[in-house]
Amino acid sequence: MPRRADRSALVSLSLDAAGATPLHRQLYRQLREAMLAGRLAPGARLPSSRALARELGCARNTVLSAFDQLFAEGYLDGRSGSGTYVSRVLPEGLLPKEASPAESEDAGRRVLSHRGRTLAALFPVRGERPSAFEPGVPDTTLFPFELWRRLLTRPWRGDTGALTRHGDAGGYRPLRQAIADYLRGARGLDCDWRQVFVTSGAQQALDIVARLLLDPGEAAWVEEPGYGGLRGALTAAGARVVPVPLDDEGLDIAAGRKTASDARLAVVSPSHQYPMGTVMSLPRRLQLLDWARAADAWIVEDDYDSEYRYAGPPLAALQSLDRGGRVIYLGTFSKVLFPGLRIGYLVVPDDLVEPLARARRALDDHPGIVAQPALAAFIAEGHFAAHLRRMRRLYKARQDALVGAAEQELAGLLEVAPDAAGMHLVAALAPALAARMNDWQAAARALDAGVTAPALADYHFATPYRQGLLLGYAGVPESEIAPAVRRLARALAA
Ligand SMILES: Cc1ncc(COP(=O)(O)O)c(C=O)c1O
Repeated sequence: MPRRADRSALVSLSLDAAGATPLHRQLYRQLREAMLAGRLAPGARLPSSRALARELGCARNTVLSAFDQLFAEGYLDGRSGSGTYVSRVLPEGLLPKEASPAESEDAGRRVLSHRGRTLAALFPVRGERPSAFEPGVPDTTLFPFELWRRLLTRPWRGDTGALTRHGDAGGYRPLRQAIADYLRGARGLDCDWRQVFVTSGAQQALDIVARLLLDPGEAAWVEEPGYGGLRGALTAAGARVVPVPLDDEGLDIAAGRKTASDARLAVVSPSHQYPMGTVMSLPRRLQLLDWARAADAWIVEDDYDSEYRYAGPPLAALQSLDRGGRVIYLGTFSKVLFPGLRIGYLVVPDDLVEPLARARRALDDHPGIVAQPALAAFIAEGHFAAHLRRMRRLYKARQDALVGAAEQELAGLLEVAPDAAGMHLVAALAPALAARMNDWQAAARALDAGVTAPALADYHFATPYRQGLLLGYAGVPESEIAPAVRRLARALAA
């Protein structure tokens, strides 16, 4: 019996209608990459062109023309009536070793490792999309750039000796101190500056953690749905990524135990799950800590946007409950300042400080110095707290505007409810809309109408079990929210 194509390989397909490459060419490349990386196994049966077009929200002709090209090049077999199969022998297997492919993309494939191919197939190259409603993006136009310019140049006026030598593995000490002080006060963390390691964003932070704590092939639980960047970092570090579903209290630990009882690491976002917004309950937090203790495993707490809470008391971090030194805290300035800064940090338990400082010599040695003194001063002199207060007010107003516009325009199409925190909302498809299309199709229609509203299905690693659209409001000026909601409503109603 031919096997059906692995669902997770098909789920990772995504077409960018705004991209420069034609859709059929994008699909052709992604399918070919999946076959070459082994995610679509030889002999596996692909869905029909009609079914695939429906899932991807594209025209059937797009799929047919991608299939045609793959048939012509020998990647697919067995056309008429009985279905479409991945060839048992891919053209690469028949090529003489010394063949020199003409196209540069073929040359790239030739030199890539198996892992390199897997990584290269994970994400499309970052492209431009309409800013309304791109999730996870802060409004960077309101950042105090004049002040920032001054802070950047200040340390280079005096004695620059200490700045120009190799630095500490954990980063610039005053910045580590400023981060530790902030986290103790704002997040209830129990830490001092030695435990803080400055990194190039949360993504590199997780990469370092995974290399330090996991051997290749060891399992790491991730939240499903969840943030692709962190899954990518785990994959890059050789971990076996195990998606674990959520319930109303957060990560379903019983489900995790059932799927991968041997996991060595769990990556969670307990303050505000990304993207669902669930807050992990106290019993679940304690259960997770118990699991880590009993399994001799680690927990990575991704606290990516906890600063944006609009109602209720701020929630203490999971790390503050940890008595066993099992939690590694991950923070980032991508949401609270701007993502181009590429500064994040780790706060590790005491007994990891020394091994991490040594291991980092073998990785990137230490973070680049240029922005660190400026950021240290920005925090220590109170500008960070002031900026946060301002952005919190602004984002709350933008969320209110989005919910208000949705009430007016999206009834019967999307169900949009307010959230006490965050930078985006997850809108469920109303039953009448869900009867007509899935979230991929809805997202494709939105993009055609100039609105970014990514499908929740895209945040799943395995077969999607939830549908919806993500609507990021933080980066959208209030005056642009209602017009974009109207465009979205027209696109979905058509
Ligand atoms: C859930 C989540 N964690 C972490 C990050 C931050 O990643 P980085 O610091 O690498 O930009 C993001 C950014 O998009 C995110 O959405």
